Amino acid sequence: MKFTDWSTYIQQRTETALQAVLPAADLVPDRLHEAMRYAVLGGGKRVRALLVHASGGLTHARPEQLDRAACAVELIHAYSLVHDDMPCMDDDKLRRGKPTVHVEYDEATALLVGDALQTLAFQVLAESPVSATAAGQLEAIRLLAVAAGSHGMAGGQAMDIAATGHEMTREELELMHLRKTGALIRAAILIGGQAGEGVNDERRRRLDHYAKRIGLLYQVVDDILDAGADTATLGKTAGKDAAHDKPTYVSLLGLTDARRFTEELLAEARAPLAPLGERGVRLAELADFIAHRAF
Ligand code: IPE
Ligand code: IPE
Ligand code: MG
Ligand code: MG
Ligand code: MG
Repeated sequence: MKFTDWSTYIQQRTETALQAVLPAADLVPDRLHEAMRYAVLGGGKRVRALLVHASGGLTHARPEQLDRAACAVELIHAYSLVHDDMPCMDDDKLRRGKPTVHVEYDEATALLVGDALQTLAFQVLAESPVSATAAGQLEAIRLLAVAAGSHGMAGGQAMDIAATGHEMTREELELMHLRKTGALIRAAILIGGQAGEGVNDERRRRLDHYAKRIGLLYQVVDDILDAGADTATLGKTAGKDAAHDKPTYVSLLGLTDARRFTEELLAEARAPLAPLGERGVRLAELADFIAHRAF
């Protein structure tokens, strides 16, 4: 299957699975449930779901075994976007081509949507076996918890808020990006590797090396797109990082060197995949997609 056909197939599976795990919009409290569905459905590239399926392919897991784990990661991601857009964080009005949740609903609803999506993610992962063993399942849940918490995404977001209006060293910027965005991307890849019987230690090391580079690459490209693309293409307001005086790879290196850095990261991400043969091809294709995406 061509990469574009495969990615459309997985995106559609993910949308269907998310529809099923989200509470119906007419269930009480209906405004909260409607807003949860608004935040999650009908938008997003579903890259984290694609990563779960691509790394899960190394374990020979079937797509049906991976759908719920992919949903769990996308639910955490959607929650992080709802909170990231709130007035107390990045104060954004547009997300995935629609008004942000706090604009369409209100701030209290946006806060609660994030809370509820986060716990739904763990419920979904706890209720749907991705691993063949109980220990493997617990490890998948642990990976998601660490990635979302103060050592991962939430911690990275705290660094981002503290750094706004200040300069950062390259080391500080890398650490912030690895946490706020890299941690969840890495978890998606490692949770895929936990599927079925899992991967052996050597493959897990290769996956982890790939995961760390892809996680950083993802946010460096996001920085470049914020500076270089337009709002209509992005579906979110372009130019916000400079307007808010956020330290980014573009503010630190300039656009040309930031782009050069993405090519270095792409090569580093792809390097450990070579010995994986056919089964590593999707991961390599996803790395190219992430590096060269237009939004
Ligand atoms: C945007 O993520 C925020 C970051 C963590 C960089 P995505 O670019 O993956 O957003 P969607 O899910 O496709 O909307
Ligand atoms: C988002 O980083 C990281 C998250 C954990 C949500 P950004 O603030 O750069 O993401 P966008 O540009 O608003 O999507
Ligand atoms: Mg932000
Ligand atoms: Mg933001
Ligand atoms: Mg951004």
